[in-house]
Amino acid sequence: MKNISIGLIGLGNIGTGVVRLLEQNEKLIAQKLGAKLVLKKIADIDITSPRGVKIPKKLLTTDARDILNDPDISIVIELMGGYEPARTFVLEAIKKGKHVVTANKAMLATFGNEIFPAAQKKNVDIGFEASVGGTIPIIKTLKESLVANRIHSIVGIMNGTCNFILTKMTNEGKPFDVVLKEAQQLGFAEADPTFDIEGIDTSHKMAIVLSLAYGKKVRLKDIYLEGITKISAEDIAFAGELGYRIKLLAIGRLKGDAVEARIHPTMIASGHLLANVNHNYNAFHLVGDASGPVFLFGQGAGMMPTASAVFSDILDSARNVLKGISGRVPLRSIDETGMKDIRLVPMDNIETKYYFRFTALDRPGVLSKISGILGAHDISLATVIQKAREEAGAVPIVMTTYKAKEKNVRQALKKIDRLDIVRDKTILIRIEDEL
Ligand code: HSE
Repeated sequence: MKNISIGLIGLGNIGTGVVRLLEQNEKLIAQKLGAKLVLKKIADIDITSPRGVKIPKKLLTTDARDILNDPDISIVIELMGGYEPARTFVLEAIKKGKHVVTANKAMLATFGNEIFPAAQKKNVDIGFEASVGGTIPIIKTLKESLVANRIHSIVGIMNGTCNFILTKMTNEGKPFDVVLKEAQQLGFAEADPTFDIEGIDTSHKMAIVLSLAYGKKVRLKDIYLEGITKISAEDIAFAGELGYRIKLLAIGRLKGDAVEARIHPTMIASGHLLANVNHNYNAFHLVGDASGPVFLFGQGAGMMPTASAVFSDILDSARNVLKGISGRVPLRSIDETGMKDIRLVPMDNIETKYYFRFTALDRPGVLSKISGILGAHDISLATVIQKAREEAGAVPIVMTTYKAKEKNVRQALKKIDRLDIVRDKTILIRIEDEL
């Protein structure tokens, strides 16, 4: 049986999972591949802390170049994360004609337009299944399974931390800050949770997914982004009353020859599949013109689920090595030289339904003032809820709308928030019930 040597850069949680999975399923993997994968070297800045896996000392190095400069290693697995030196190591691996497998969404979303063309030029693979949706085969689905479809829409729950927090807030009625702390204690949120709760991690994944779905270059900063930090227990309770659940959705939708690309907390019908993706799970709901709806669900993170995705890429590259081929499937589903910039729908032009929660004084004429401004901006009301006042002061007034234009909504809310009867900035949450 032939040996294929691989090198691992980054022995963190996922890297350890890769070592463990190779140990656990070595025979099965060799059977399916028809060759033996040999983990020849592992580089990490910390090679002394115990990882709970048996690793012969001679495999460990603190210098990633021991892997990059080893001519025997044909596949480099980059699992160190972050922007640099990950980008430099990946570019060096490509330069030396090595295939690369990575889970690094931040690097690919930021430097993909440099990394992918360089890899195509050198005829090497870049496998990145683990960069989006953990164990869920969303990359392969877009690059291969649905390749002949026009993707009408791709809507995802792509961040387990946010989904865990929103699920707990929904089930237990607790405020965001309290649930975030609990999530940190349980290890479901990082000590610095900014990347997750502000939606930055989701935007990295969305940029990757959109580039595959539409075969276009996507700039991270062009994706509209709102995180979950402003979601309150009150809005979650009102959502429930209206038959909705709140999820942080990444929404991509084809509109003519442009694409809507937005990430924000969204109300969706409580019976929809996506509304029932709970805890730290991720999911993708795609609609292709030929396929119709496709739903993918699974663990979006975690040692072994992510290692599973890493191995799907390792085996892809190893099979190519055995056959002496590469580049059969274009890296981003289209030849790199043909990739144009994606045309995105400006956020002002999107049309959707809205939920508003006004904080206004409970006085005669208040509702008519607010609804008058909405009407003047072509915003038609679907439902209105006002709870009776329990004590003097402001009360919440909740309204949902039929489809309206985002630009009109923003202008109307600006005027409403200036009214003397309005005591707090109005809460806006978009509703999507045509997923
Ligand atoms: N931090 C991510 C999440 C997992 O919470 O889903 C890694 O992408």
